[in-house]
Amino acid sequence: MSSTEAAVPRHATITIEGTNKSATLPLLSGTLGPQVADIRKLQAQAGIFTFDPGYGETASCESKITYIDGDEGVLLYRGYPIDQLAEKSTFLEVAYLLMYGDLPNNAEFETFNRGITMHTMLHEQIRRFWEGFRRDAHPMAVLCGVVGAMSAFYPDSIKINDAHEREVSAFRLIAKLPTITAWAYKYSIGQPFMYPRNDLSYAENFLYMMNSVPAEPYRKNPILERAMDRILILHADHEQNASTSTVRLAGSTGANPFACIAAGIAALWGPAHGGANEAVLKMLGEIGDKKNIPAFISEVKDKNSHTKLMGFGHRVYKNFDPRAKIMQQTCYEVLDELGIKNEPLLDLAMELEKIALDDEYFVSRKLYPNVDFYSGIILKAMGFPTTMFTPLFALARTTGWISQWMEMIEDPQQRIGRPRQLYTGAPKRDYVAIGGRE
Ligand code: SDX
Repeated sequence: MSSTEAAVPRHATITIEGTNKSATLPLLSGTLGPQVADIRKLQAQAGIFTFDPGYGETASCESKITYIDGDEGVLLYRGYPIDQLAEKSTFLEVAYLLMYGDLPNNAEFETFNRGITMHTMLHEQIRRFWEGFRRDAHPMAVLCGVVGAMSAFYPDSIKINDAHEREVSAFRLIAKLPTITAWAYKYSIGQPFMYPRNDLSYAENFLYMMNSVPAEPYRKNPILERAMDRILILHADHEQNASTSTVRLAGSTGANPFACIAAGIAALWGPAHGGANEAVLKMLGEIGDKKNIPAFISEVKDKNSHTKLMGFGHRVYKNFDPRAKIMQQTCYEVLDELGIKNEPLLDLAMELEKIALDDEYFVSRKLYPNVDFYSGIILKAMGFPTTMFTPLFALARTTGWISQWMEMIEDPQQRIGRPRQLYTGAPKRDYVAIGGRE
């Protein structure tokens, strides 16, 4: 090590004031990002736990899949910058990258593509699940239910310690989510289900199942296919976000992968997470006109209103979410392709973004547009109802979830997830018969 290079610290020490207790915590270094203090011996050495509601300062695992630099607005999938992948790659190639760690060569991609293609159909009995749902059921309820029940059709999926079975389950999930998602939409509008086609790309097949009808031939649109593929890439993975952490926690108990992905879908549904894209459109609809933006911003600043500027803010990004920039560019392309000259929602969103980014409340809190701020506008322009926005997010994120699940199962350090707590409830007390109570 040269004299100018600062020595990398190896340990952190915690001492408990007023006692002779202390803990020496190894500092672990990753390829990128801050060091982490290994606290696994903290209680044994110092008799204390750490406290971190929401795990904002806690690394739950070691991972090689995705890296985010929140201050710089950087997102890497297996080291590749998201803007390069969005521009040059395809979703299925990115799925291979996330699962296996490297970009595929031609032969590897052909085998992977074929494997996914051969798993896109659903068991005919699964079709009957839809009959149990009301037509107006939220499609996320359908995804939760159908994906969770899939293990009933694939009993081998419970062999989670069998690498081949894990890979087959991953293929089934990546391949079938588009079919399930499209069928959830078709069911909601009373149209017949369209079966997947093996001659279409992943994104085109999804758009085909979403938009075609038996009564007429399907007209492909390469621009919309490209936009769809890019939107899927942008949503594929994102470190240990709430839904990915849910998948890992469920997986740490040994649950089958379909149950774990269903748990991830449930977590993603929340408006603070994957439900934000749907909430952004609802918010823009409620604002209605640029003249109402100042009043809305005032409402957001009033903590008692509990109103959030949906599509803004992020636990990790304290700079622009790189996905939001790409999404905005894609927005222009899609609206142009569709001949939509001045989309009022886009104008409103851009004015809202401009005002927020000039406002001290948002600047001081480092609140910037995230992936959800523009995605809803694109999806609406492409004809998706708002209820389908989060299912689309789930469709794309299934690839990240299953890649993280596989990494977790293969991690020798992995144990069942079981956080501790700070107990502030009643001290020990004896039972009093009801007659003796006041
Ligand atoms: C996703 O984790 C991921 O990676 C998620 C995701 C992924 O790909 O998996 O990126 C996808 O979920 C994106 C986020 C989508 N959600 C939204 O757009 C909903 C609106 N955003 C907020 O709910 C919020 O920003 C969160 C939930 C995203 C982050 O919550 P945090 O980390 O608790 O927010 P924070 O601690 O950074 O907030 C700091 C301050 C607080 O105010 P003070 O207490 O300091 O006064 O900023 C305020 C917050 O109240 N704040 C907001 C705000 N977000 C934070 N105020 C108004 N509008 C907002 N959107």
